[in-house]
Amino acid sequence: MTTTAPDLHELPEDPSTAGHVVSADVAADASEPGSSLIPTLAGAYYTDPAVFAREQERIFEQMWFCVVRSADLARPGAFRTVQVGRESVLVVRGRDGGLRAFLNVCRHRGAQLCTEESGEVRRNLQCPYHAWTYGLDGALVAAPNLARMPDVDRVANGLVPVHLQEWLGYAWVCLADEPPSFEEEVLGAAVQRLGDLASIERYRTEDLEVGRRIRYDVKANWKLIIENFMECYHCATIHPELTEVLPEFAGGYAAQYYVGHGAEFAPEAQGFTVDGSEGFDRLPDVAEDQDRRYYAITIKPTVFVNLVPDHVIVHRMFPMSADRTVVECDWLYSEDVVASGRDVSRSVELFHRVNEQDFEACERTQPAMSSRAYRDGGVLVPAEHHIGAFHDWLQSKID
Ligand code: FES
Ligand SMILES: [Fe+2]
Repeated sequence: MTTTAPDLHELPEDPSTAGHVVSADVAADASEPGSSLIPTLAGAYYTDPAVFAREQERIFEQMWFCVVRSADLARPGAFRTVQVGRESVLVVRGRDGGLRAFLNVCRHRGAQLCTEESGEVRRNLQCPYHAWTYGLDGALVAAPNLARMPDVDRVANGLVPVHLQEWLGYAWVCLADEPPSFEEEVLGAAVQRLGDLASIERYRTEDLEVGRRIRYDVKANWKLIIENFMECYHCATIHPELTEVLPEFAGGYAAQYYVGHGAEFAPEAQGFTVDGSEGFDRLPDVAEDQDRRYYAITIKPTVFVNLVPDHVIVHRMFPMSADRTVVECDWLYSEDVVASGRDVSRSVELFHRVNEQDFEACERTQPAMSSRAYRDGGVLVPAEHHIGAFHDWLQSKID
């Protein structure tokens, strides 16, 4: 195909964790003469259903995939169904208080067990076809005439379990028989970006509450959304409000990109809000040197985490097809802010606009992916060369 490996040795970390923080000119200076432009993936990577099928099989069904905010399933019996790769996965709160995940398929004759996206059952999960009934731990507990079939093993014929881990207050599932190390793949992404785990743990994201959730239905391939998040070459053009608050995002001189770097707020910005007005109190454990700074982390394949002193923004992507991605974005605040009903709208509005601006750009790009002009792909300028590492990673998974 068309992508070549960019020369990345000048970059101090895995650039796939960059978020909007980009260095750019550091890499430009290091490029070979004549290598200002390096190729992207070919257009078919963003449109071909066969490519998407391989991504489902080898990426979404193999890696840890963030599915639901744990607190959304507060009570025993609360469930949510989510699409992970080609599978429907059911996540449910058990009577013992723990979260479990199962394939959303009845073991009798294969009917989908839960057809709603979310809900709450009293005690059990009952298939609407022949009424096989499963406990919240997945075991088969009842079925018509089951008493006359004493040889039926209720665990072996129970729901098929899916691996589940919780972190940052979210449930992450993995469909692989042998999941990759959660520590290395998920926590490791934060460590690579921030330098250590403590830096993200200080935001205590698991204790925060959802102040606002917005779901975006984006008519674009999931990789366009990741690539957009990884570079800031577009920030000056399409993010006027963001570059007011984070001026280093506006220009080429904002090349201070290294492990642990957070973009500094403008001196006149009182908070990370749409008009630079005051936000909320700094989260209690956030360190002095993290104050008035923005950090972005990409956790492949589908999660972005944005850290600012008074809140955390988490994006979860759900790739639905080659040209459609649902993004659920949570704005998380301290319990006090949410419980007191404080107005979070100016705080939410800043990144909501960023999201709309970014997703509009992705939607503008998607139709052109099938143009003859993009058959061999486009190009990355030096400020975007680190996206080449993402392309290499993708190709190593699916080609
Ligand atoms: S398919 Fe579910 S009970 Fe028959
Ligand atoms: Fe952006």
